Amino acid sequence: MASKVLGIDIGGTGTKGAPVHLKRGELLADRLRIPTPKPATPEAIAEVVGQIARHFDWKGAVGCALPGVVRRGTVYTAANIDHGWVGTNAEKLLRGVLPEKPTVLNDADAAGLAEMRYGAGRRHKRGTLLVLTFGTGIGSALFKDDELVPNTELGHLHFLVDGHGGIAEHYAAARQREEHDLSWEAWAERVQLFLDHVENLLHPETIIIGGGVSKQKRWSQFGHLLKTRAKLLPAELQNNAGIVGAAVAA
Ligand code: BGC
Repeated sequence: MASKVLGIDIGGTGTKGAPVHLKRGELLADRLRIPTPKPATPEAIAEVVGQIARHFDWKGAVGCALPGVVRRGTVYTAANIDHGWVGTNAEKLLRGVLPEKPTVLNDADAAGLAEMRYGAGRRHKRGTLLVLTFGTGIGSALFKDDELVPNTELGHLHFLVDGHGGIAEHYAAARQREEHDLSWEAWAERVQLFLDHVENLLHPETIIIGGGVSKQKRWSQFGHLLKTRAKLLPAELQNNAGIVGAAVAA
């Protein structure tokens, strides 16, 4: 197994990459962030992925995380990237701009793998653990005894909100707080409803909250407002979890 892997995290707004030291779970160089092209078509993103690999003069293994369901390299959903991804074999496509065929997986699954190996999950490997990432959407990574159940997509659960049916991430993603200028308290109430719903469905022992909101200065604004039966922890790798986890998967 390679000890250094290039990790790339394709996001709704930015695409970020850096070489990762697999033993330590650390970035070996400052990450490069390129705004995700709009529309985020497969070809446009492939171009950006190639740019990141060239920037690091990369010759070895590459892992790529993206916001959609990925099975055996093929993308099946695209909520926050161009619909053209659906049905695309991402591993084959990105092979064209990389030194070797990459491993491609869901971004929240990648973040989860990173938290389990190097972050908040490393002391909670027994039992059911759920990582939820709050950003443009809501991502989820479910683990049973440290084994990932991929593509759970809990951010797309429908549940009743104020008497109306709604998609969880359209209500409680971090982007909703920013777009609707919600106070941390008002947003935390939304997250709480989502967490209640998820707990009633899965009864995890541990829940890790990831994404930019897990940074200490943000977590301190709302973490204490959330009440769960599960042990609730902020992620430790924060914005680099996707990069590190993509490298782990490769
Ligand atoms: C996507 C997921 C992704 C999450 C976080 C959702 O809209 O459907 O695949 O993990 O956003 O980026």
